[in-house]
Amino acid sequence: MIKRCFQAILFPVILCALSNLSKAQYTIIPVETAGNALVLGVNKGKDLSIIYYGKKLANAAEYGMVSQAYRQTSDYTKVLDAAYSSSGSRNLLESAITVTHADGNNSLDLRYVSHQTTTSQEGISQTSILLRDPVYNFEVTLFYKCYTDQDVIEQWTVIKHGEKGKVTLHKYASANLHLKAKGFWLKQYHGDWAKEMQPEESKITHGIKTLDSKLGTRANLFQPSAFMVSLDKPATEDEGTVLYGALEYSGNFRTDLELDYQDNLRIISGINNYASDYTLQAGEEFQTPAFLHLLSYSGKGDASRKMHDWARQYKLLDGKGNRLTLLNNWESTYFDFNESKLKDLLKDTRKLGVNLFLLDDGWFANKYPRNGDTSGLGDWQVNRSKLPNGIATLVKEADNNGLKFGIWIEPEMVNPKSELYEKHPEWVIKQPGREEHYFRNQLVLDLANPKVQDFVFGVIDDLFKQNPGLAYIKWDCNAVIYNAHSAFLKNQSHFYIEYMRGLYNVLKRVREKYTTVPMMLCSGGGGRVDYAALQYFTEYWPSDNTDPLERIYMQWEYSYFYPAIASSNHVTDWGKQPIKYRTDVAMMGKLGFDIVVGKLNEKDLAFCQNAVKNYNDLKNIIWQGDQYRLSDPREEPVASVAYISKDKASGVVFNYLVTSRYGDGSVYPIHLKGLDPKALYSLEEINLYPGTSSSVDSEKKYSGEFLMTVGFNPVVNSGRSSVVLKLTQKN
Ligand code: GLA
Repeated sequence: MIKRCFQAILFPVILCALSNLSKAQYTIIPVETAGNALVLGVNKGKDLSIIYYGKKLANAAEYGMVSQAYRQTSDYTKVLDAAYSSSGSRNLLESAITVTHADGNNSLDLRYVSHQTTTSQEGISQTSILLRDPVYNFEVTLFYKCYTDQDVIEQWTVIKHGEKGKVTLHKYASANLHLKAKGFWLKQYHGDWAKEMQPEESKITHGIKTLDSKLGTRANLFQPSAFMVSLDKPATEDEGTVLYGALEYSGNFRTDLELDYQDNLRIISGINNYASDYTLQAGEEFQTPAFLHLLSYSGKGDASRKMHDWARQYKLLDGKGNRLTLLNNWESTYFDFNESKLKDLLKDTRKLGVNLFLLDDGWFANKYPRNGDTSGLGDWQVNRSKLPNGIATLVKEADNNGLKFGIWIEPEMVNPKSELYEKHPEWVIKQPGREEHYFRNQLVLDLANPKVQDFVFGVIDDLFKQNPGLAYIKWDCNAVIYNAHSAFLKNQSHFYIEYMRGLYNVLKRVREKYTTVPMMLCSGGGGRVDYAALQYFTEYWPSDNTDPLERIYMQWEYSYFYPAIASSNHVTDWGKQPIKYRTDVAMMGKLGFDIVVGKLNEKDLAFCQNAVKNYNDLKNIIWQGDQYRLSDPREEPVASVAYISKDKASGVVFNYLVTSRYGDGSVYPIHLKGLDPKALYSLEEINLYPGTSSSVDSEKKYSGEFLMTVGFNPVVNSGRSSVVLKLTQKN
């Protein structure tokens, strides 16, 4: 019966409720995508366990035989492979959930009650499994949302009770996985400002490895929740079994990877329970954020392309849509500008040929003008001495130049030197009676307080009301939370959770009213790059570090998890490379500029103008195509990345020299990927610097087979440190 129900999942909604399980000895619940099955099993005692996560089998009944194939040591507890481990009863390892019941008892034992699978949208199915404690009126529902074609599973949990009194949740993970392999290798990331997404890969040893953040907001500054685990051997781009994981949450997260005594890997991920006991009222539902995972058997590259497809189709705001190229004034003016300077920059924007001018920090505050980062944050009134005619004049002037206009805000923050701080000290996160401690001279507003949520929403709403032509927002968030305390909340243990709920409330309200306006999630660079936030944003700012050499490495790592369309890459004066190198690197994403156009020499300007035209020509391939990492800058002197259109008819290949050692360059050919082996292609070098010519013969034709088997040499060397090739099918 179970098998029939799963085979019968068709669009539109078909409900397959399996209630009469008591007769069966062992019940299997396959949670399936196109290629994979996460199979859960229910034993006689109603324990829900993970019996398999791997390639989908044609005969679902065979999942029941998986465990017989292993001869590992005994599981004394019978819950090592629990689908959601609880604590205080049989479990001896890390738990997914820990509670204190209303009567003070600390035990929890969750047993299977029922499950159902629904298909409400083509390509998506959702399984929910209800678990209940046989002794306490306490239940947990596990949700598995499967994105069929992309092999992505989102997992979350809803916790509820009907006890007489309050229950304290000490831990409340989103997901609990259990994997079997001969060994596990973790690829994780760490960083700091201007050093985001630094990878480390290591073999997982016995015990618990925790990836976490306690920063409250800008939570990914030191570590994002995204990671990969290779099974059996470290996966490469094209080979090996690899699991991608990430928590869809912008606040404190915690992921425990525990290699247990049986040599199996348990992964438990969710909101960080650090300082966050949650008091759950009877009848209240506590819903965790989703933990996202994806398993591939064809290496990290395949996994990343599936991730990109999933993000563009289902998660990232307007993932299939358009993006605006822009000129930003941050690095060209910093806080030092006025109306006439900005009007000149608008002309420069037009000269460059990009779509939008983005006015950065420094346009607001009067009593404590925002002339530096020590004052004015929170006072979102236009600075009268810099911009006496307001923003509206600039929006109009942009329009006169055929341009759109965007603006920077950092609405969640406050400088102590501001009118907002003077007026509403109770809106600021700080410990009463303790010395304030600042991050970039600022403090964080208490979004747990609905009045603060209204204020933050109002900042954006007012900007749009006053300037209906406003076409872009750069939403920054530069501070972490120190001295976590809300003057509004009665229960401080709820602070980190309520802060995030407040943030999402605001973002929801913004998106309900301004559904399509593009917004960049800046967060000082990489501080808030996650798929919960990216539902509200069209792009993110990977790092303030725009040195193109550094960016090659960072963008490479980000690109495992996020598609190029979401990566805001600006050409700036960071780094020693020529403008061509800087621009070529920025083109591997969403192109912008942050340079003094007026200071460019004639050739540099002509190069940039032409590059913008080329970018417009190629952007759909970069944004919507399949990305292939061809040559790894950590292993080779040349970094090479290709974007190939879904129909394999066109593409673009970016190649960069990343070392300065004598003779280094593309000694060996670059093997292309993702082409039609039978088709013929030409390769044309584009983005040539004025006055230079290419050694690449664009008249030659190569079969896809040749380009993928023998490869192609872009002739990268110290005289040609950046080479962009346009690939076009010729037959
Ligand atoms: C952060 C951002 C920068 C810029 C400044 C302005 O550092 O990452 O791009 O907007 O703030 O203060």
